[in-house]
Amino acid sequence: MTRLFSPWHMRSVVAKNRIVVSPMCQYMAVDGVAGEWHHVHLGSRAVGGSGIVMAEASAVSPEGRISPGDLGLWNDRQADALRPIAAFVKSQGAIPGIQIAHAGRKASTAPPFHGGRFLESHEGGWSTLAPSAIPFGDYGIPEEMGEPHILGVKEAFSGAARRALSAGFELLELHLAHGYLLHSFLSPLSNRRTDRYGGTLENRMRFPLAVVEAVRGVWPESLPLWVRISAVDWVEGGWDLDSSVILARELGKRGVDVVDCSSGGIVPDAKIPLGPGYQTSFSATIRKESGLPTVAVGMITDPSQAEHILVTGQADGVALAREMLRDPYWPLHAASRFGETSSWPLPYGRARS
Ligand SMILES: Cc1cc2nc3c(=O)[nH]c(=O)nc-3n(C[C@H](O)[C@H](O)[C@H](O)COP(=O)(O)O)c2cc1C
Repeated sequence: MTRLFSPWHMRSVVAKNRIVVSPMCQYMAVDGVAGEWHHVHLGSRAVGGSGIVMAEASAVSPEGRISPGDLGLWNDRQADALRPIAAFVKSQGAIPGIQIAHAGRKASTAPPFHGGRFLESHEGGWSTLAPSAIPFGDYGIPEEMGEPHILGVKEAFSGAARRALSAGFELLELHLAHGYLLHSFLSPLSNRRTDRYGGTLENRMRFPLAVVEAVRGVWPESLPLWVRISAVDWVEGGWDLDSSVILARELGKRGVDVVDCSSGGIVPDAKIPLGPGYQTSFSATIRKESGLPTVAVGMITDPSQAEHILVTGQADGVALAREMLRDPYWPLHAASRFGETSSWPLPYGRARS
């Protein structure tokens, strides 16, 4: 049996393989509420044979949305709309997961397919929050968060975690990556605070770790909690791999089960050397140095490449994003390539070669 198709035990949950549909914003929600698009999008990837299907970054509060079309989990109507989707994903033998997020100073933008630029309030945008009043590129200047904001966002994260549970998700991922709010507290490029939330690494980690603790407090012991990080900022003087290893150890102490290792996003002009598996070495280092299981993500497209990452101990799972948009049946194709006996959906059985 290949490592890719070996079961993955996390607390009480067992994923049937190590293939993760990476969270991907669809910008198709109305008032943060999922619709038919989300059902079909996530449902087809579950039918396609992935072990874990992670729903996109879902905002913990209205101002935490990247765009007006983001999914949300700040009210019960949003959880109600996600419930049948999580149930369908589960019915196909995949673990239904969801990422919760606050976009911070990168909020209030148009969806990428409508240009992705910052939206002013007269265009339907809103004022944004950040550790310091430093804008992302040419976006609006965010408001520096005071203690009440800090408390409020922490509560919003635990409220969203409770709703994710009530909607039937069995795996929760916290978004600490890509320049969004919690990452912007970690990075010295966006956090210039002089209080206990800024300055030293310990101080910059304080708020993200408080959110992790609050969420772990409401997310059941029996279910896995993942954290996605940007392992590096790709900018001199920014967040780096050594800091990520220290963060991962702290996450492990707080009951985080897996670190999902992405990178970048804190500034618009970082030079990122894109190429196959360009972030995998971060996963390998974090896994080795922190002892925590990891997921590798980023230009993983070929089944042999994915298998190689796992058998060489660089990660415990692989997440695929764009390749899953090109081919929702990637896991079924990979299984055929390796001669694995994956279970095809019964109605599709006659198409199996
Ligand atoms: C359409 C799209 C939407 C995305 N939305 C999210 C998201 O909601 N949360 C997140 O952490 N990453 C998001 N990403 C990043 C992907 O999860 C992934 O990390 C990145 O695309 C690299 O993987 P790939 O080379 O397999 O596409 C998104 C990527 C794409 C292409």
